[in-house]
Amino acid sequence: MNWLDDDVNQLSLLGAVLIILISTVVVRKYIKQMKTDKSTGELIDKSWDGIREYNNELPIGWAVSFLVLIAWAFWYFFIGYPVNSFSQIGQWNEEVSQKNAQFAKKWENPDKETLMGMGEGIFLVQCAPCHGITGDGIDGKATDFSQWGTVAGIENSIINGSKGLQYPLGDMPGGLLQDKAEIKAVSKYIMNGLKNEPKGKEVYEMMCASCHGMDGKGMDGLSPNLATYGTSVFVKDVLSRGKKGHLGDMPKFEDGRLSDIQKEAVGHYILSLGE
Ligand code: HEC
Ligand code: HEC
Repeated sequence: MNWLDDDVNQLSLLGAVLIILISTVVVRKYIKQMKTDKSTGELIDKSWDGIREYNNELPIGWAVSFLVLIAWAFWYFFIGYPVNSFSQIGQWNEEVSQKNAQFAKKWENPDKETLMGMGEGIFLVQCAPCHGITGDGIDGKATDFSQWGTVAGIENSIINGSKGLQYPLGDMPGGLLQDKAEIKAVSKYIMNGLKNEPKGKEVYEMMCASCHGMDGKGMDGLSPNLATYGTSVFVKDVLSRGKKGHLGDMPKFEDGRLSDIQKEAVGHYILSLGE
């Protein structure tokens, strides 16, 4: 019986046995007393349907416990738990934030290899259930990372539109461009850091700049910053926003689910899948 190896279980069992024993003894004593005792002592005058109370002094032990209990209640409220508020939740949060700080410090400047290792670990646990172990999106259930973050990913967003990142400008409609050559040129222009693609630049300024800004930076958060598309900075942003997309919804990875460095690591990892 290995549950009996546990100290707390042993104590609880001992307590339970004692409670049963003491209750039995006390109950038997009083039952016996009720059967045999004759009443003694002084009765008060008032009677309720023939039942009268003893005119006894307050038992000193009872009175002392009563007063001590009141004092203890004040102590407990003002100095002990509620006001001075030690809380297990507070202690937990404190310890978690300490550990997080230690974690952040330890991985302040990870090299590329460390980052990829960390990214892979996070990916397999947090992302693979929806995106697939190889990042292929499991037959269209989630984004395919062999494309996303590359020229092909941008082409796909132009053709099908993009939604669910919850930017103030809302969703980007699909079919903004029909011409394949134009779609390719503007996608290359963006992947190129918005330079060195004269044809793409022309298309961009006509069709995209109205929402993404001339410099592609998303006009102060109205739409995504395309200058970071294809980098872990863009992935970080996606992870903080979540996505209510065409294929389905992806939750936010905020509130301690992933730290900044973890988002960066997994960003490097998924982008490496499209290389
Ligand atoms: C009507 C405004 C608007 C126009 C015009 C527009 N976009 Fe967008 N774009 C957005 C918004 C808003 C988003 C964020 C959509 C979302 O929630 O996923 C976005 C997202 C994107 C993304 C990121 C998609 C992803 O997978 O995260 C790319 C790439 C992009 N746009 C490229 C372009 C290109 C190229 C053009 C020009 C052909 C263009 N956009 C025109 C508003 C626009
Ligand atoms: C609950 C399922 C789920 C999980 C878990 C999940 N994703 Fe997603 N993710 C999706 C779906 C679904 C989409 C596609 C949304 C659409 O376009 O319809 C998506 C889209 C994306 C995109 C493309 C965003 C864009 O703007 O087009 C990125 C990047 C991404 N996920 C990264 C990740 C990373 C990194 C993780 C792990 C930390 C992760 N996802 C975990 C379901 C998930």
